Amino acid sequence: MDRPSWAPDEIDITRPSVARVYDYYLGGSHNFEADREFAAQVLEVLPEMATVAQANRAFLRRVVRHLCAQGITQFLDLGSGIPTAGNVHEIATAENPEARVLYVDNDPIAVVHSRALLDGDPRTEVLDADLTDPGTVLDHPLTRGHLDLGRPVAVLLVSVLHFVPDEADPAGVVRAYAGATVPGSHVVITHASDEGGHSGAARAQNVYNRDRSPNRMRMRSTTEVRELFGDLELLDPGVVRIPMWRPEYPVGPEAQRYPGLAGVARH
Ligand SMILES: C[S@@+](CC[C@H](N)C(=O)[O-])C[C@H]1O[C@@H](n2cnc3c(N)ncnc32)[C@H](O)[C@@H]1O
Repeated sequence: MDRPSWAPDEIDITRPSVARVYDYYLGGSHNFEADREFAAQVLEVLPEMATVAQANRAFLRRVVRHLCAQGITQFLDLGSGIPTAGNVHEIATAENPEARVLYVDNDPIAVVHSRALLDGDPRTEVLDADLTDPGTVLDHPLTRGHLDLGRPVAVLLVSVLHFVPDEADPAGVVRAYAGATVPGSHVVITHASDEGGHSGAARAQNVYNRDRSPNRMRMRSTTEVRELFGDLELLDPGVVRIPMWRPEYPVGPEAQRYPGLAGVARH
């Protein structure tokens, strides 16, 4: 298999990666045959997966605009992915040129591409780290240098916590980030869910939990996603299907079966 010049030598391009599979769902070009083969298995059982990924990105745009309107100027985007159009820094700086964004991901391609895209932009930084280790992320000199944790921050966990198993204590991870931020800060979560007997979503989860999967997946219910927020105060309308979180346009009845949940909390 040919290795393009933009792929770092240390990555195994014969194994799929969550970041590259997601890039493929979104129509991006930073993916390999192994990623496309894996995505094809998911699309076979959940044909609307590309639309699901797009709705997740549309939510990201809505929520970043909402947060900017609340006066938030700092964003900690955990599991930020491979940059595609409409990334957090683009949305945020369009609303407020002073906005600062720290992207965090542990996928080498996501990190390399984020760095390449953002090179020379003093308002955005990229940290190669595992988000399930909040101490390392929060104490890292890049974080301390780029974000002022004495002022409100939006902590974004968008489409990533379903890759954090129960053993890694996702609620504890959220608590650690929230606990390091001051009142007025926000936590944003979107999460895959097969709630309501969504057989396509349940089968997609099985694909992620097979051998040669890039990451195991743990879908969660509304109650479980609410629990991830702990004591934080959920904004209206609470934890809902992603298209139903403050939609800009009327949503159809199919939104009720959308295989993903969203919630935003403030403290
Ligand atoms: C489905 S993508 C979501 C990307 C982006 N947040 C979005 O919603 O468009 C999940 C991303 O989380 C990253 N990721 C998964 N587990 C992670 C971890 N433990 N630490 C840091 N990043 C992680 C993956 O590499 C991938 O880029």
